[in-house]
Amino acid sequence: MPVVEEVSSGSIRPLTLCTISRPVSTLLADLDWAVVECGADTAALYDRLAPRYEAFRGLWLRLAGGGAERAMLEDLRAVLRPGQRVLDAGCGTGALSRRVLELEPDIALTMLDLSPGMLAQAEELPAERIVGSVLALPFADETFDVVISGWVIETVADPLQAVREYRRVIRPDGHVLYTFCSLPDGWVSRAGTAWLRRAVKSDFAGNFLEEPRIPWHDCERSHRRRTRAGLATEIVIRKCCPIGSPLFTDA
Ligand SMILES: C[S@@+](CC[C@H](N)C(=O)[O-])C[C@H]1O[C@@H](n2cnc3c(N)ncnc32)[C@H](O)[C@@H]1O
Repeated sequence: MPVVEEVSSGSIRPLTLCTISRPVSTLLADLDWAVVECGADTAALYDRLAPRYEAFRGLWLRLAGGGAERAMLEDLRAVLRPGQRVLDAGCGTGALSRRVLELEPDIALTMLDLSPGMLAQAEELPAERIVGSVLALPFADETFDVVISGWVIETVADPLQAVREYRRVIRPDGHVLYTFCSLPDGWVSRAGTAWLRRAVKSDFAGNFLEEPRIPWHDCERSHRRRTRAGLATEIVIRKCCPIGSPLFTDA
């Protein structure tokens, strides 16, 4: 049976714009700028957002995503070893890659993203950088020991396909760790976070994945942790299902 752990229990208090601090409202004004200035194309959107992305990211972690990201980094710490090959899939500006290298500098890191503008923000990192799609990873099967992917699968048309690709490129004893925005439980939490979910949807081309769309490998070697009443989720999966069997719960 899968382990599903509620990291921080309880519903979320409704947040309103008048209760948030001045720097936060400034950032939200920036989000408005981003959506007006950018088109619907994901790569173009993130190219334009790139110089300001880290501020938005920090805001998201403070409001909702911090617990899930900490959970992923804890799990990463437990599996990272010197000499491993690690892929940061949908790496953006490299925020997670920096944390990976702090945890274990002696790895071969590959950073992949659809947006050259986002990748350009991570030029200083000692890593291979590739412009490409998580929906069709340009790597052979079983190339990596670890794949991490933070806040990416909810921005693509087919989250299940992205996770299938992550699983394909890990080695038999490898790990895939990913976080994403998910729909909270209960109407109070949903109502209280409606404005935040609207901002993420429009400004980051992101969705809050509902249970039927969550790529989830049902196996005792995998686990799932939900934070902020389900608003953010962290999943770790392994390469444990035989090829040809249904790998994920699609419904
Ligand atoms: C919300 S950002 C997350 C960035 C980074 N992982 C982080 O933790 O900050 C989503 C990223 O996914 C990238 N992305 C969206 N669709 C993609 C795709 N099909 N293939 C690769 N990257 C994609 C975007 O360009 C953007 O950099």
